Amino acid sequence: MAELGQDIIKAKQFLEDSKLVAIPTETVYGLAANALDIKAVSSIFETKNRPKFDPLIIHTDQLDKAKIWVKDIPPRLMDLMKEYAPGPITVLLPKSSLIPDLVSAGLERVALRIPNHPLTLKLLESLDFPLAAPSANPFGYVSPTTAQHVQDQLGEKIPYILDGGACKIGLESTIVGIENEEIIIYRKGGLEVEKIEQIVGPVKMKTSSSSNPAAPGMLISHYAPNKKLKLYRSELPENVRKKAGVLAFSEIPDGFMQSDRLCKNEDLQEAAQNLFGKLRSLELWPVDEVFIEMAPEIGLGRAINDRLKRATAHH
Ligand code: TXA
Ligand code: MG
Repeated sequence: MAELGQDIIKAKQFLEDSKLVAIPTETVYGLAANALDIKAVSSIFETKNRPKFDPLIIHTDQLDKAKIWVKDIPPRLMDLMKEYAPGPITVLLPKSSLIPDLVSAGLERVALRIPNHPLTLKLLESLDFPLAAPSANPFGYVSPTTAQHVQDQLGEKIPYILDGGACKIGLESTIVGIENEEIIIYRKGGLEVEKIEQIVGPVKMKTSSSSNPAAPGMLISHYAPNKKLKLYRSELPENVRKKAGVLAFSEIPDGFMQSDRLCKNEDLQEAAQNLFGKLRSLELWPVDEVFIEMAPEIGLGRAINDRLKRATAHH
């Protein structure tokens, strides 16, 4: 099992030794390694069982530090970072030759993010290299939002988990880039599209996956627990209720064998925070089939629904 703790010096030592450390962020836990150390980055892919065509995000504590890892920062992406970083936004920037091709999966752009968590910011401050960090889950599984989630799945494979409590946002960062002067969203996430548009005006969505080589990690069934999952908005069948479970966003409907809700009072922020933990706990329900209510398609609801669709896509 991994050691759990809040010892930044210890975490730093493991990272300097090419080892992996799980780190808390405001979105989800990351599985971190020195992004400039090819051996360490390779072991991220092995540990997660992640295909090498799926690029990694690099994390740092200050935009100034990143200037040597990227060729430039387009002004509109700079505006977004100034407004929302540290925070749940990742920007795609042309990478410099210091960033190994393994990190960007051979792409010309590297994903960069400044996470907003006090422990991780302190750790990053103490490092002169960026941390490559995908979500700390086996490939294809829901992202971890507590140190215990990481321990349950990767505890045997890594030495240390920096325990920063439950993630405040609970959904991965929103990924943003620019193509021919147009701002593109590649992944809906913890920063609402509406907030991005407040700064840079209308954006274009390019989030649907397998056909999209720009974001190869956005595979359709990416967040799947081991149950038959069905999404609903309002209508629910009567005849299956006694044998099925329901995870509601609003009111819990009557007659189901097992039930839970994502939040009280239809609160999107709370639903986002709870989503991955609740999806994990479905695995223990004594039912084969679970109906999940979608959120309204606004604000964080868009990212919640995106993850729900991915979780159910292969059923
Ligand atoms: O909130 C987050 O972003 C978390 C925390 C730990 O920071 N990280 C995270 O990483 O979600 P990951 O690896 O699970 O998802 C990142 C996704 C990849 O699957 C890939 O699709 C996309 O970001 N990505 C990374 N680099 C890219 C690039 N150069 N071009 C296009 N997409 C990229
Ligand atoms: Mg992930």
